[in-house]
Amino acid sequence: MADLSKRQIEEILDASLSIKRHGAPPDALKGKILASCFFEPSTRTRLSFEAAMLRLGGSAIGFSEGGSTSVQKGESLTDTIRIVSNLSDLIVIRHSAEGSAFAAAEASVKPVINGGDGSNQHPTQTLLDLFTIRELHGKIDGLQIALMGDLRFARTAHSLALGLAHYAARLYFISSPELGLPDEIAQGLRKTGVKFSYHEDLEEVLPKLDILYLTRRQKERSSLPEKKPFVLQKKHLEQGKESLRILHPLPRVTEIDPSIDALPQAAYFQQAANGLFVRQALLSLILEEP
Ligand code: CP
Repeated sequence: MADLSKRQIEEILDASLSIKRHGAPPDALKGKILASCFFEPSTRTRLSFEAAMLRLGGSAIGFSEGGSTSVQKGESLTDTIRIVSNLSDLIVIRHSAEGSAFAAAEASVKPVINGGDGSNQHPTQTLLDLFTIRELHGKIDGLQIALMGDLRFARTAHSLALGLAHYAARLYFISSPELGLPDEIAQGLRKTGVKFSYHEDLEEVLPKLDILYLTRRQKERSSLPEKKPFVLQKKHLEQGKESLRILHPLPRVTEIDPSIDALPQAAYFQQAANGLFVRQALLSLILEEP
């Protein structure tokens, strides 16, 4: 997220809105090739990038696990990316190592998009999160937004916190002490002047909230012992505003009771659907010939 200015973020959100409302030219990226290099599992990010490319008239190549590549024989990540970048026009990478997307960008002769690097960042998720918040409330400035759950290892929370710092939103971080926001993210927020506070209970802030953004426990990145997990239930929403909207980057595990899915507050499937438009906009802005 640190690579994007507020002006660039707004340009991407505006282009995404135009594509959602009016569609995109079906041959805008004819002849272009997207390489999706996913060394970690994904449903939404990989498939929405590939669908976005296909809907813009381009093609997609790639892999959905590193085990099917020559990394298995000992080839380095940077050599792999160097080769793939000669075969494609743009690379989307997901990898378990923090900083892997940056290393890939250094090795690549083509643009690289970070589709998630360890517990560090997931910037395209943040772009679709910001797009959805703006769509739901007509603005981001002035909103009261809580991020709740595993804030230590969830890269979506790290990127979203930095993205929201461009706006005059009030942020609340709700987690158990051992899963709190990393210090380096908090330090980054302090430099921006955005107002934020830490909490352990949703009830402390729920009545004020416009957005509640939940994350799942990132079990694949932590060996911390499991505590009794929080589950958002219908009864919690009785304390919230009518205009409160619930977001989640998904996959959901147990954090949101499925009985909430049919309520007007549930916006997480709308949020996931917006991933296609935001990724179409990103690909167009990066690859379209002037
Ligand atoms: N939100 C998200 O990154 O989902 P996937 O892991 O399915 O890509």
